[in-house]
Amino acid sequence: MRLLVTGGAGFIGANFVHDAVCEHDVTVLDALTYAGSRESLAPVENKIRLVEGDITDAELVGKLIAETDAVVHFAAETHVDNSLSGPEPFLNANVIGTFTILEAVRAHNVRLHHISTDEVYGDLELNSPQRFTESTPYNPSSPYSSTKAAADMLVRAWVRSYGVRATISNCSNNYGPYQHVEKFIPRQITNVLTGRRPKLYGAGANVRDWIHVSDHNSAVRRILADGQIGRTYLIGAGGERDNLTVMRTILRLMDRDPEDFDHVTDRVGHDLRYAIDATMLRDELGWSPTHTDFEDGLRATIDWYRANESWWAPLKDAVEAGYAGRNQ
Ligand code: NAD
Ligand code: TYD
Repeated sequence: MRLLVTGGAGFIGANFVHDAVCEHDVTVLDALTYAGSRESLAPVENKIRLVEGDITDAELVGKLIAETDAVVHFAAETHVDNSLSGPEPFLNANVIGTFTILEAVRAHNVRLHHISTDEVYGDLELNSPQRFTESTPYNPSSPYSSTKAAADMLVRAWVRSYGVRATISNCSNNYGPYQHVEKFIPRQITNVLTGRRPKLYGAGANVRDWIHVSDHNSAVRRILADGQIGRTYLIGAGGERDNLTVMRTILRLMDRDPEDFDHVTDRVGHDLRYAIDATMLRDELGWSPTHTDFEDGLRATIDWYRANESWWAPLKDAVEAGYAGRNQ
C-alpha cells in the first residue's frame, strides 16, 4: 500500500515509519518544526520519501494525497505547556491542518486514520474506578487538548456528511525512543544525564496511563488494516502511574537517590488523571500490548537516551532555558 504519514519525523510518527517501511511504500509529510527531525528517520532514509511541508498547504497536501492509498495523520503541535504559553500554532496545525487533510481525502476518496489523544476527554478523579471509553463525553482542558478535540469532531463530521473513510484513535501517554526532551520522561532522563536536577510539577500526584510507543503503533496498524470506518478506538495498556512514582523509578533505574529532584511550579489547569479502557480494541481487533512491564520499557528508554546523546543534546539547553523562564 502507498502510505502518506503526516508528522512522520516526530516521536510517534518516526517510530511508526521505522516499522511501516517493511510493509508499505511510505511518504512522510512533515514541516520539520522544532519537534520534528530528519535524524529520527535516518535508519530508514533510503526506504522513504520525505517531503518537507506543512499540512495546512492545501495544494501540496492535495497533490500527495492524490498519489496515496491511505493517510496516517500524526502531525500536530503536541506539548501542553507550549499550548498554554502560545496557543496559535495549535489552532493552525491541529484544526486547520486536519481540515486540510480531510478536504483532500474527500476529494480523492482516500482512507484516513486520524491519531488523537485521551486528553480530549478531560480528566478523571484520583482513586476512582472510572476510565475513559469510546462514549465518554469530550471535555478538554488545555489549548492542546481542545484543538485535538476540534480535529476529532471535524473527522467525525466529514465521515457523516461526506462519507469520508476515516477511523480515529485516542491513545494515552506514550514513552520510548525519539521522544522530544520537552516531555516528562525524556526531560528527567536527560536532566540526570546532563547533571541537572529532575523537575516535578507540584506534588506529583497527577496520574498518566503510560504505553510504550511500539504498542501504540501496533494498535494503529491493526485499526488501519481492520478498523470499522467511522469508529473511534481507545488505545491504552493499563499503565496508570502517578508522576511522583515515575520520577522515583527513573532516578532509581539511573542509580540516583530517588528523592534527588526539585518540585517546581505546577502547570495551570493541570489535568489530574487519565485512564483508558481499551476493551473494545482488544475484543474487536484482537490487539494486545507487548511491553507490559513498565520498568523494563523505562530501562530500555534510558539506555536509548544514554546511547543517542547526539540526537537530543542539541535540543536540551534551549528547552531548559524555556522552562527556567517559567520557573519549571
Ligand atoms: P511530536 O511533537 O513529537 O511530533 C509532531 C510532528 O508533527 C513533528 O515531526 C512536527 O514537525 C510535525 N508537525 C507539526 N506541525 C506540523 C504541520 N503544520 N505540518 C506538518 N508537520 C507538522 O508529537 P508526537 O508525540 O509524536 O505525537 C504525534 C501524534 O500523536 C499527535 O497527533 C498527538 O496529538 C498524538 N498523541 C501523542 C501522545 C503522546 O504521548 N506523545 C499520546 C496520544 C496521542
Ligand atoms: P507531559 O509529558 O507534558 O504529557 P501530558 O501533559 O500531555 O500528559 O507531562 C506528563 C506529566 O508530567 C504531566 O502530569 C505533567 C508532568 N510533568 C512534570 O511533572 N515535570 C515536567 O518536567 C514535565 C515536562 C511534565
